[in-house]
Amino acid sequence: MYPFVYNPPTGRYATCLRQVSNAQRFASQYNICSSCVVYLIFTSVMPLYHLLYQSYASEEFTGRELPTLLRQSSLVNQAVEVTGLLLYTPDGRFAQLLEGRKQHVLEVYERIVRDSRNHTCEVLMEGPWSKRSFSYWCVGLSDCAVVPEGLPLTCVNFRQLPDLLTKVAPTRPMLVHRLLSFVEPFLTNPTY
Ligand SMILES: Cc1cc2nc3c(=O)[nH]c(=O)nc-3n(C[C@H](O)[C@H](O)[C@H](O)COP(=O)(O)O)c2cc1C
Repeated sequence: MYPFVYNPPTGRYATCLRQVSNAQRFASQYNICSSCVVYLIFTSVMPLYHLLYQSYASEEFTGRELPTLLRQSSLVNQAVEVTGLLLYTPDGRFAQLLEGRKQHVLEVYERIVRDSRNHTCEVLMEGPWSKRSFSYWCVGLSDCAVVPEGLPLTCVNFRQLPDLLTKVAPTRPMLVHRLLSFVEPFLTNPTY
C-alpha cells in the first residue's frame, strides 16, 4: 500500500515492488506514463487517518500487565509509524487515539479488538485527518511510575493532560473534550 516506505523487518518493500509493477501494467494498458500512475498511488495513500476508541480492561492492569502492554504496543507502533495517546484509568477503562496511515491504524485497531485483555471496544471518532496531533507515542496514566525506562514512548500524568492536549491539538476541540471527559473524575481528585 505504501510504496514510499522501505522497511525490511515488516517486508513493506515487497509491497512497494508489487505496487510499482501493477502501476506499470495499468500504464501500458491505458498508454500513459507509468511514473504518473506511481505518483498517483503515492499521493492517494499519503493522507493520515485517526481513530479514537474506548474499551474496558478485562482484568485490572497491575504493575506487571501494564508495562507488558506498553512494551508490546510501543514497539509495534514505532515500526508502523502509528502515534497517538493511550489513556488507562484506575477504574479499568481505556481510551486510545491512533494516528497514522489508514491501513496501519485499522490493523492495530483490529488486533486490539481481538485482544482478550480488553472488551467492548467502541469507536468514538474516526476518519481522515490532515496532520498528526501526536508526533510520538504517548501514554496518560494516573501514575507513570509503572512505565519501564527506555521505551519509545512519553508518559504523562492525568494532571498534565489538559495542558498537553490544548498544546498538541489546538484545532481539535472535540477530540480534546472527549479525552478530557474520559479522565475527568480523576482530574479533580487530588489522589491522581
Ligand atoms: C488497550 C490495549 C491497547 C493496545 N494498543 C496497542 C497499540 O497501540 N499497538 C499495538 O501494536 N498493540 C496494541 N495492543 C496490543 C494488541 O492488542 C496485540 O496484543 C498486539 O498487537 C500483538 O498482536 P498479535 O499477537 O496479533 O501479533 C493493545 C492492547 C490493548 C488491550
